[in-house]
Amino acid sequence: MNDSEFHFQGNPDLLPDSGSTSWSAPSNIALVKYWGKYPVQLPANPSLSFTLEACATRTTLEFEKVSEHASSLADTDKLKVFLDGQPAPDFEPKIYKFLERISPYMPFVNGLKLRLNTGNTFPHSSGIASSASGMAALSLCLLEIEKQLDPHMDSLRFSRKASFLARLGSGSACRSIEGGLVLWGAAEGVPGSSDLYGITYPGETDPVFQTYHDTILLVDRGKKEVSSTAGHGLMEGHPFAQARFQQARENISRLEDILKRGDLNAFCELVEVEALSLHALMMSGEPSYLLMKPGTLAVIEKVRRFRKESGLPLCFTLDAGANVHLLYPGALSAKVYPFIQQELLSYAQDGAHICDRVGKGARPLTLHRRNN
Ligand code: PMV
Repeated sequence: MNDSEFHFQGNPDLLPDSGSTSWSAPSNIALVKYWGKYPVQLPANPSLSFTLEACATRTTLEFEKVSEHASSLADTDKLKVFLDGQPAPDFEPKIYKFLERISPYMPFVNGLKLRLNTGNTFPHSSGIASSASGMAALSLCLLEIEKQLDPHMDSLRFSRKASFLARLGSGSACRSIEGGLVLWGAAEGVPGSSDLYGITYPGETDPVFQTYHDTILLVDRGKKEVSSTAGHGLMEGHPFAQARFQQARENISRLEDILKRGDLNAFCELVEVEALSLHALMMSGEPSYLLMKPGTLAVIEKVRRFRKESGLPLCFTLDAGANVHLLYPGALSAKVYPFIQQELLSYAQDGAHICDRVGKGARPLTLHRRNN
């Protein structure tokens, strides 16, 4: 895997004594899922996602130069993390590990003292993973520092390297930089696709897909019993692994055709098969586990019945958890949202849900807006 294009090309002497950068990065929901990987954070199959808008992480990174000579980040107490203004030392080991992993591509981080202030737009205990949006926001803040050292860096290199770094923090995070539909992983016949970073899906796409809504039902707001990291690990030696990777590759090429034709019924079928295949892998691994809850299944059945009876292309997808993402074209929301309210919200904890939609991707925040 040739990662040489991501080596540092700037001038370390341009590093200011201190400064701060601030970015907002969105969450994303995969239509074709990534499940199973190779070191380091390389996907076993390509995946394709909708970038979301409302669910996002906002991060401000304050930095200070601490030494002329690079030293190991882990050696000293150089990182402090705050979540919603409160000290969050539990996050620090994961971020140290990330910084160590990216330091070959960003050697100047070794000489920085960092203070990271982060917060999510979605509730903390919502069962929605913040690792994708969080790692994307942090990577963008770091890239913003690098840009000061490498003033000629163009916007393509900026976002591509941000995606490359985010991937090293959490695989799916590399799909949280660009907006719309994002493809991660080398896909046959898709020019520019790569295992190293996510790209804006380059294929012809019916405009309806830019209008999609994602109403997320918070069926279970607890912490997941099995982490995604452990789940990816269980794909090693999984009896269905090779068949799954092949299925995902085929689903990417089927989805290309569906996106082009705007075939919403075929879209529903494919997206639901992907979601259930992901959970089937969890149920059929060793040890086997189950992340769906009774409410998840009840919602699935009602969505399918609604689709059959109304003919409207409402479908569901699932992350590695019990919450249900309900996907539908924006133009249908006057018909679909009342159904969600009347028939499905009772399966969400305290009726909790998030009205999200396909978004435009990460954006810089000014420091002045941090407290707005
Ligand atoms: O990025 P990770 O390691 O948290 O894995 C995410 C895996 C799924 O969310 C289940 C699927 C995906 O493609 O986002």
